[in-house]
Amino acid sequence: MVPLKRRKVVSTLPVTDTDIKATKHPDIVIFILERKMGASRRTFLNRLGRTKGFPVAEEYSETVTHIVAENNSGDEVQAWLETQTAGCTTANVAHLLDISWYTESMATGQPESIQDRHKLKLSLTPSPVIPKSSAKSYACQRRTPLKHHNLLLTEALELLSENAELGENEGRSVAFRRAAAILKTLPQAVQRMEDLQGLPCLGDHSLRVIKEMLEYGSSQEVESTRHSEQYQALKALTGIFGVGVKTAERWFRGGLRCPSDVAKSEERLNSAQQAGVLYHEDLSQRVSRAEADAIGQIVERAVQEVLPGAQITLTGGFRRGKETGHDVDFLITHPEEGKEEGLMPKVIQWLETQGVLLYQKTTRNSYLESKDGPSRPPHNMDRFERCFSIFKLDRSTGEGGPLAQAPGGEVGGCEGRAPGSELEPQHCSTGWKAVRVDLVVSPYSQFGFALLGWTGSKLFERELRRWAGKEKNMSLSSHALYDNSQRRYLRASTEEEIFSHLGLEYIPPCDRNA
Ligand code: UTP
Ligand code: MN
Repeated sequence: MVPLKRRKVVSTLPVTDTDIKATKHPDIVIFILERKMGASRRTFLNRLGRTKGFPVAEEYSETVTHIVAENNSGDEVQAWLETQTAGCTTANVAHLLDISWYTESMATGQPESIQDRHKLKLSLTPSPVIPKSSAKSYACQRRTPLKHHNLLLTEALELLSENAELGENEGRSVAFRRAAAILKTLPQAVQRMEDLQGLPCLGDHSLRVIKEMLEYGSSQEVESTRHSEQYQALKALTGIFGVGVKTAERWFRGGLRCPSDVAKSEERLNSAQQAGVLYHEDLSQRVSRAEADAIGQIVERAVQEVLPGAQITLTGGFRRGKETGHDVDFLITHPEEGKEEGLMPKVIQWLETQGVLLYQKTTRNSYLESKDGPSRPPHNMDRFERCFSIFKLDRSTGEGGPLAQAPGGEVGGCEGRAPGSELEPQHCSTGWKAVRVDLVVSPYSQFGFALLGWTGSKLFERELRRWAGKEKNMSLSSHALYDNSQRRYLRASTEEEIFSHLGLEYIPPCDRNA
């Protein structure tokens, strides 16, 4: 198998699902390269393959598993592949094969097992490992897929980033995160330090960690951080809903190490933290996509009840294609500007009367567009009408609370945990699960900005704002884009338009996983 250094092609599926099912060999998709072969010979070979029950694709796409060429060197085919562009980056592997494999397979009527003599040879001088698009220095200029080839390295760098964040060293935290992000864009696993040549965003410290990991399989600094009492405690404490770094740090100094220490302590907790401790066991579990969808239905129902015609959109990590999340994020708007005003309290009230909410705190919309441009350029991110909440999601039906059944259910003799009940963390499984939900209401005119701002990832957002400020003299927020040179707001109703105002190639949500 030859790892392909390329981006995917957007094209119609070469062979339809029914075609593939109709063939005798549904696991493979063959593509015959016309280059140096000519159209008529290719047409003949395509037809021959299909009559023998082989799935042969008319156009090249990422579904192709076997690329067959005649009179081409491996390097030539590789170079051709690299010209294929666009779409989401999912690095693939496909066999690069000589026509002899195909003709032999035709003769036997079976895909022949691949021998060395069938394989197109790549020359030893490696073609550049890094496609140009990966080497751009802002994460918002690059495609960062969810799945990538350097998980061990990125996990290590992200742990150091997290540790720096817990120590309130933002600069250091961002530096490690940027280093991890660049590794996520690479088309293959880093094996030697030379593979990193020419890549931006890799500072001395990150390089040192990577080098150590490549040589010894792990990094001392990473492992000692991972096992340090301070890192573990601050991570556990900030893992409680409503607890930030400052509070966690204070509690740590006071001897607290984990949520149950907090529950037993005399600390005065605000209402968010109380809910955080009470529902900690559920909230520390990942939320699945199915659970997110179930919550989406509840929110949809609530919104339609109180304002028909309003639209809800799933944002955050789930919109980027993640299979799980720590919460579920929704953006709500209405196509008639102004109709969305006052929507949140009504939605909350409806949800409350249905018994769906275990906790909620709503903040009002405080965004005001000033003629002179945004007052605090890069950081006015949180001025929407917004509700931080904890939903009570029925485990069996995916419905919320008593919409489906009585609170607590009758599972295993476990008492239902009512909101506001004693500060005893949950210990047994109930018929429902507490799930964090973020609701945001945006006026229609700001919807594109809100969608872009709430889709993340956090680093991608940070990089977008940095790009806007540094490279374009613009200020981007989840509400608006202001051009400081022209002294005017740049309007946009879609994410595509915003990327275009910023002079950036459009990056789809699935490739914003920086
Ligand atoms: P999340 O914290 O929910 O991150 O914020 P996520 O990417 O969905 O990750 P998981 O899966 O829940 O862990 C979603 C996006 O909303 C924006 C950020 O840009 C973030 O990427 N956001 C979040 C804000 O703009 N302001 C906030 O206060 C919080
Ligand atoms: Mn989220």
